[in-house]
Amino acid sequence: YTITAHAGESGPEISDTMYGVFFEDINYAADGGLYAELVRNRSFEFLPVDNRSYTGLTAWTPRAVGGGAGTATPVNDGSRLNERNRTYLQLSLANTGGGTYGVSNSGWNNGVALEAGKRYDFSVWARSDTAGGTPLTVSLRDETGATAYADPVRLQVNGDTWKKYAGTFTASATTDSARLWLQGEGVGTLRLDMVSLLPEDTFMGRENGLRKDLAEKIAALKPEFVRFPGGCLVNTGSMSGYDASSAWQRARAYQWKDTVGPVEERATNANFWGYNQSYGLGYFEYFQFAEDIGAMPLPVVPALVTGCGQNRATDDEALLQRHIQDTLDLIEFANGPVDSEWGALRAKMGHPEPFGLTHLGVGNEENLPAEFFERFAKFRAAIEARYPEITIISNSGPDDQGALFDQHWAQNRAAGVDMVDEHYYNSPTWFLQNNDRYDSYDRNGPKVFLGEYASQDNKLFNALSEAAYMTGLERNADVVRLASYAPLLANVDHVQWRPDMIWFDNDQSWSSANYQVQKLFMNNVGDRVVPSEASGKVIEPKPITGGIGLSTWATSVAYDDVSVTAPDGTELFADDFADGDAEGWSPLANRGTWSVVDGAYTQTDATAQDTLVRAANITASDYDLELEAKKLA
Ligand code: AHR
Repeated sequence: YTITAHAGESGPEISDTMYGVFFEDINYAADGGLYAELVRNRSFEFLPVDNRSYTGLTAWTPRAVGGGAGTATPVNDGSRLNERNRTYLQLSLANTGGGTYGVSNSGWNNGVALEAGKRYDFSVWARSDTAGGTPLTVSLRDETGATAYADPVRLQVNGDTWKKYAGTFTASATTDSARLWLQGEGVGTLRLDMVSLLPEDTFMGRENGLRKDLAEKIAALKPEFVRFPGGCLVNTGSMSGYDASSAWQRARAYQWKDTVGPVEERATNANFWGYNQSYGLGYFEYFQFAEDIGAMPLPVVPALVTGCGQNRATDDEALLQRHIQDTLDLIEFANGPVDSEWGALRAKMGHPEPFGLTHLGVGNEENLPAEFFERFAKFRAAIEARYPEITIISNSGPDDQGALFDQHWAQNRAAGVDMVDEHYYNSPTWFLQNNDRYDSYDRNGPKVFLGEYASQDNKLFNALSEAAYMTGLERNADVVRLASYAPLLANVDHVQWRPDMIWFDNDQSWSSANYQVQKLFMNNVGDRVVPSEASGKVIEPKPITGGIGLSTWATSVAYDDVSVTAPDGTELFADDFADGDAEGWSPLANRGTWSVVDGAYTQTDATAQDTLVRAANITASDYDLELEAKKLA
């Protein structure tokens, strides 16, 4: 190729915050991922409404040792730890002949990972109705209990009121399959809640901190912003708040006030992606992480219109006003003085200095444009009246084009909105063919935040197509001011969406080709575009094989026994989702069969609510690389 750069000419400035990351708690990205907590279901709040396979004892196994006996029961009654942490574990100890009775926890990936020589902080809230108290031995052992990975922590639980007990382990061996055992002696009722094991060696040594290898991989990207906490996660589910009178008040919209303050007082919630979210990684931790990696925090709040297949809008004006007030309070939490109500909470949590919030997203992928904009306008008016310096980001729905997308954009343009969030997950061919997408955008209209995009696989070709596309983003840096690949993280044992940028299990993580492309661009952001053009040799058109477009929101929420076969008989995708993560649980309940219709892989059974599988990249035999090489200039 010949690339001619016009060094004397000046193209648009590239924004200081051009590239960032989008963090959503999907694929166990928070609990079981970036959040360093090693105990799964630490507060016994897993409910079938979070995921049909759950019980209060998910990840816990009752254990009778050395002739011990008893029962282990999750209980939700008036003896609870507090109104937000409603279920606890009741151990009825009946060790009349000696021995111990208790439970063990298996962590997130069928084992707790430990590293020899590293220290791990254990804590538990407990109470005992036994006069003289109950001896409780906590240990790190293998599944059989035969091998110990650290000296045990011995506690004496005294009194029938909730108290926090703590200890520290030093691992004597490295393993990825330990269990945390808690064994009580004697007889009586021992109640346990908030059983926690956190490595001392978290990212930047933060308490209640982040898993180091994952945080370091994100930091190595040098992102200039962190968009959080989602995604579909943000505004789906019930739009009401926490209802202490109902343990089943689940799947409520993500509300930042649920996620701050002491961890044992944070309500858990049903995550849109089919599991429980503890909020141990909450808004304070997100702000702190952004600051720790030198990135701008970019929260997204629910707009009281659901997207992601749910398509509802609340007409409850009082509820809407409460959410608007919550948003104003969020800005105060981030930026307010320490003598303001929410600034004081930030200071109490350890950060008196402001977090310096400058950008805020309202809503995510609403596909009811009119309803969305009516509510967005109220958020915007209230925020602008009190905090005119904040850049408020609107959105454009889930599509990259079409009538709803156009309606969103028309509304945003007419109202002079600052910035519009766009999302798309398309084939690599699409990314190559649409390098010029932003060339024709109105230079005087709202700026673009490309908040989510990915070509639909983690193969090298996908990564290259994204790299090619990013040259188009930079060429249009006067319009595209922020961009983030999505999703960021995936736990290999708990996948709701692929592709993803960084993959991990309980003790290892590895980056994708797509990650390397992001890193290359993020670590080398220019100040200004230098106009250039390229000419290249002709590369023979060839079929592009592999990769299917299952990565769209609805299909990845819930599907069962899916297999997809190419026209030549090649099996492209098969999964029975036997791990139960997404199986059958979803507001969309999207099960069905898939077949090839007009060259696209399509869900064809009657129950399908959406037809979202795209296979444009299976046999793109007419694809012409020469043409694309010219367009990249
Ligand atoms: O990134 C995964 C999902 O894709 C997000 O939750 C949603 O915004 C989009 O549909």
